Amino acid sequence: MKKVILVLGGAGYIGSHTSYLLSKLGYEVIIIDKLLHSQTFNHPWAKLIKADFTNEEVLNFVFDKFEIEAVMHFAAFIEVGESVKRPADFYENNVVKTLKFLNFMMKKKVKKIIFSSSCAVYGDPIKIPMDENHPKDPVSPYGKNKLVVEYALQDYADAYGLQYVSLRYFNASGALPDQNLGEQHNPETHIIPLMLRAIKNKKTFKIFGTDYDSVDGTCVRDYIHVLDIANAHILALQYLDKNGKSDCFNLGTGNGFTVQQMINAAQKVTGQKLITQNHPRRAGDSTALVADYSKAKKILGWEPKNSDLDFILKTAWAWERKIQNFKQEEL
Ligand code: UFG
Repeated sequence: MKKVILVLGGAGYIGSHTSYLLSKLGYEVIIIDKLLHSQTFNHPWAKLIKADFTNEEVLNFVFDKFEIEAVMHFAAFIEVGESVKRPADFYENNVVKTLKFLNFMMKKKVKKIIFSSSCAVYGDPIKIPMDENHPKDPVSPYGKNKLVVEYALQDYADAYGLQYVSLRYFNASGALPDQNLGEQHNPETHIIPLMLRAIKNKKTFKIFGTDYDSVDGTCVRDYIHVLDIANAHILALQYLDKNGKSDCFNLGTGNGFTVQQMINAAQKVTGQKLITQNHPRRAGDSTALVADYSKAKKILGWEPKNSDLDFILKTAWAWERKIQNFKQEEL
């Protein structure tokens, strides 16, 4: 019998790629997602229930009907800048609802969860690359949300026997255009889709901050292909199945690129010019975030295999050309 994995936020960017991979590897995938970004979800490989992940009626139905092996939790508000402006919404969705859901899991005696955490838990770097022991001093409510949940997971593991893996993603990027999978946030805030749309529509791309402590003054990020992130979820699941100890792991490549370097790379991949304009720093942004992923390599046997920058940008570009329905006013 197929193992059933419940995926919260499985119609979102990372959740949909992971659901696809789970299904391809023989798992049965049940998704709860409220389609917050009005995204289309027409994939044959998963059952989608359109609902909030704390809707008790839906949860009772799902947990009673299916023998759930594990939960993967992707359902979160993700825009760092927005979290600075609307912390109440972010704490409500990312912390309060997650705790409510964890309590429900405990009640139903489902004990395994893989949680989508973030490198935003670290805040500004004391050293680069950052390993999991790097001091945690998040500079945005979003990063604090993720850290609070990580503390809760640890306490639930100690007190109630929860088994968890918390995956701290660095910058998820790229797409699987052949599977009709890619980024479709609404509004879009991420650098790669915004750069590519600006190129496609001959609009201006805003550079947020040119006075950071980096080679060219722009922010440094570690871009990891979403397929590599999806793969880490499968390895984390297998790790928990073997009674691996609950833990946190970084998912990144160890290579950092500045915003300016990303602009150059996007121009190279598309063969087109990107018009840019310098803007002040965006609230909540760290100067540099680059992963030391040696722990995930050692313990989960994970390493990035699809995260060459050219491949990331090529797949993202193919996806942008494929989707017709994004709105120009988002730029
Ligand atoms: N940037 C621009 N112009 C834009 C958009 C982004 O210059 O129009 C810059 C940002 O200032 C930042 C970099 O590009 O320096 C990357 O920004 P993204 O918005 O693409 O990604 P973030 O690093 O802010 O956020 C992402 C995820 C979060 C995660 C975070 C950790 O969205 O969920 O990485 O860094 F927590």
